[in-house]
Amino acid sequence: MNKISRKVAIIGLGNVGLGTAVTILNQGITDELLLIDRNVTKAEGEAWDMANAIPFFTSPSKVRVAEYKDLKDVDIICIGASAAPPEGGDRLAELKLNASIVRSIVRESIDNGFQGIFIIQSNPVDIITHEALKESGFPPHRVIGTGTLLDTGRLRQVISEICDNVDIRSVYGFMMGEHGNSQTPIWSSVRVGGKSFLKMREENPEKYAQLSLDELKFKVVNMAWEIIERKGSTAFGIGAVAARIIRCIFNDEKSVICISNYLDGEYGQKGIVASVPAIVGRNGVESIVEIDMTEEEREELNRSFYLIKEHSL
Ligand code: 2OP
Repeated sequence: MNKISRKVAIIGLGNVGLGTAVTILNQGITDELLLIDRNVTKAEGEAWDMANAIPFFTSPSKVRVAEYKDLKDVDIICIGASAAPPEGGDRLAELKLNASIVRSIVRESIDNGFQGIFIIQSNPVDIITHEALKESGFPPHRVIGTGTLLDTGRLRQVISEICDNVDIRSVYGFMMGEHGNSQTPIWSSVRVGGKSFLKMREENPEKYAQLSLDELKFKVVNMAWEIIERKGSTAFGIGAVAARIIRCIFNDEKSVICISNYLDGEYGQKGIVASVPAIVGRNGVESIVEIDMTEEEREELNRSFYLIKEHSL
């Protein structure tokens, strides 16, 4: 970790890369942001446009166009590059093309001396993170996928709305498994200000159980497709998720967040990358947290793990 200045690079300036860049700058969580894209002219335009925004942000970061040779002392690289926005309602359809794009970015970064932490956003993010991990040869704690942190946020959003818009920070709970259609909510983990959401539904079904748990899950899982149908891609949610992970790392927060990481026996799984709660701090993933869940939830989660295993390259 570079102690003198906090440096982040974003490789690939599509919608995800741009959403991530602006969020990072707006939150003032890096001293210097490096933008890398094959289209250098566009990258310059984006960097200059973002630089114009910095005087109005909370702290004075620097942003500039960079090349792979500038990555030596970078702390974190975000990779959200993809061949095209996901089509047909399934992120797995993008697997082959995105895997080869991300593998080549990882290779070139390492060949140019990068020694920090990768944050992978490209879909299907669990399997692509695994590909990045294999290509890098890094220890798993330094190759993190954004995973179901985004979906966990969407779950909290849905629950907050049901609970009269209670502060979303008071809603706790996890979506786990694949950042994809097989992900599963761990309902027994969902708490609103410390109170079990399942219990709230039992006690006051008219208010809290108007929609079935399956309908709530569908709302969460389908949110990405609702957005993509309207604007062609998602960008701001996933950008904010990367920024959240970066804050955990730079501030050594040791927060428990649901990210993609390599499983080595946790949850009874070995040799896959999947989205699970983990403690994230200065070194990246400090440890994976095995949360309590019901037998039924575990079975559902195992189905999602199995799907990841089946599609892994
Ligand atoms: C998202 O869930 C498409 O994976 C992207 O927003």
